This record gives sequence, C-alpha cells and structure tokens, in this order.
Amino acid sequence: MPDAYEQYLVPVIFRPFAEDLAARTAALAPAHVLELAAGTGVLTSCLLATAPSVEVTATDLNEAMVTLGSARAPGAVWRQADAQRLPFPDGGFDLVACQFGVMFFPDRVEAFSEIHRVLAPGGRFLFNTWGPLETHSFEVALQAGLERAFPVDPPRFFPTVPHGYSDPAVVAADLSAAGFAVEDEQELTLQGRAASTAGLATGYLTGTPVRTAVEERGDGPAVRATVIEEMTARLGPGPVTAPMTAYVFLAAA
Ligand SMILES: C[S@@+](CC[C@H](N)C(=O)[O-])C[C@H]1O[C@@H](n2cnc3c(N)ncnc32)[C@H](O)[C@@H]1O
Repeated sequence: MPDAYEQYLVPVIFRPFAEDLAARTAALAPAHVLELAAGTGVLTSCLLATAPSVEVTATDLNEAMVTLGSARAPGAVWRQADAQRLPFPDGGFDLVACQFGVMFFPDRVEAFSEIHRVLAPGGRFLFNTWGPLETHSFEVALQAGLERAFPVDPPRFFPTVPHGYSDPAVVAADLSAAGFAVEDEQELTLQGRAASTAGLATGYLTGTPVRTAVEERGDGPAVRATVIEEMTARLGPGPVTAPMTAYVFLAAA
C-alpha cells in the first residue's frame, strides 16, 4: 500500500497541502519539530527543504510507512510511534506537525493530550484535516464509483474516516479538552492536478484501506473497471484539476 500511495496519491492530493503546512511551520521558526502520522514523508521532505535548520523527528504508526518515509526523507530522525502513546519525554518539542493524520486517531482527546505533554510550554500544534467529502471532487467521484460497483454495502472508508472529522467546532472542542488554546483555524481550498483519472483511481483502490474493503467484497478487476468508468465520466480522462478543501489548525500548549 505505501508504494501505491506514494506513486499515485501523494503528488496529486498530499503534496499541495504539505507545501502549505511546511511554509506555516517555517514562519513559526521552531527548533525541534515532531511530525506525527508522517506516512511516506511528503511533509517531512517539504519541512526539511523549507526550514533546513530545523531538527525533525518523523513518526508513523505503520512500520511500512516508516521504512519508505525514512528512505524518502533521510534528513529526519524516523521512529515508529502511535500518536496516542508517544515514546518521548515531556516538553521536548516546540512544534508538533501532522498532515491529514488526526482523523485516524481512535481517541483524539487522548492523542491531543499526548501531543500537549511532549510540547514545551507555549509550544504549537499545527495540523490539517479534510473538509466534508462533498468539498473534495476527486473523492466524490471515487465514492460514486464504489457505490456503482457495490450498490449494496459500498465501502464507506472515505466518508467516515478521512472526511469523518470535518466539523471545525468538534476539532476545536477536542483541542480545548486536551488543554490547548486554539490560535487559528482556516479553511483552505487547493487544486489537485492528476495526469490521469485511471491512475488516480488505481491509487485510491490500491494505496488506501479501500483496497481491503474491495478485496473482502470480491472481483477486483471488475470493480476497478467500474470505478475508472464512473470517475472518468465525472472528471474526464485527465489531465484533470479539481478543488480539495481542508481546515488548518494552529493551537498553543
Ligand atoms: C492519510 S495518511 C497521511 C500521511 C502523511 N502525513 C501524508 O500527508 O501523506 C495517514 C497516516 O496516519 C497514520 N496513522 C494512523 N493511525 C495512527 C496513529 N494512531 N498514530 C500515528 N499514525 C497513525 C497511517 O499509518 C498513515 O500513514
């Protein structure tokens, strides 16, 4: 999964937001940054390029992501870590960054409390989370394809996980419950550019947990053909440009 994620999804979906988050990080001029849910290291690479003097510790729950990430962004110190049980002492970082990871944490208040613990007093937590599914044109098209392929019981990963933590008021309440003061919250829409809609569909079907959901339901090649057909009907064959909306939060410990 990490290879397909890196090849098909990172350049289109994740890099534009990583460039934004790296610029916001550099503007805060931190010295010791902890990155959570770093995946294959797209934000890590942008951070190292944008703020070369910053010491970056990059982590992810998934060992396979850590292996690929450490090869792609070797300038960071890489370590496997669950955001809800961070293997770091109190107060050792002045900024924690996380790109599109918080929606995966089963208990956000517990994870945010851990993040608060590892930040020095006044340290910052900078992260983004997707807006509702309907604000992400690529994933609306993907979900329509999955619903066509599986009219009964379609996979619901995208509406419920990546786009399942999309109410800024809920995010702000969770941050407050963990002891943070919300300093800033912005809605940000960036354009994703995909050379090929079929390539993008392949990325979603093989580089995300949708892969397992499709395997459980059977007949992968037929599903792939249906999803590509539906996504192409909605987006065109590519190149295609489409809007993607996220919220960016900055909170102080
Ligand atoms: C959508 S990916 C984002 C990866 C990367 N930040 C990027 O922008 O490409 C979500 C990541 O969250 C990680 N993850 C899921 N649950 C986690 C947890 N409890 N603690 C740390 N990372 C977690 C996954 O392994 C995955 O790499």
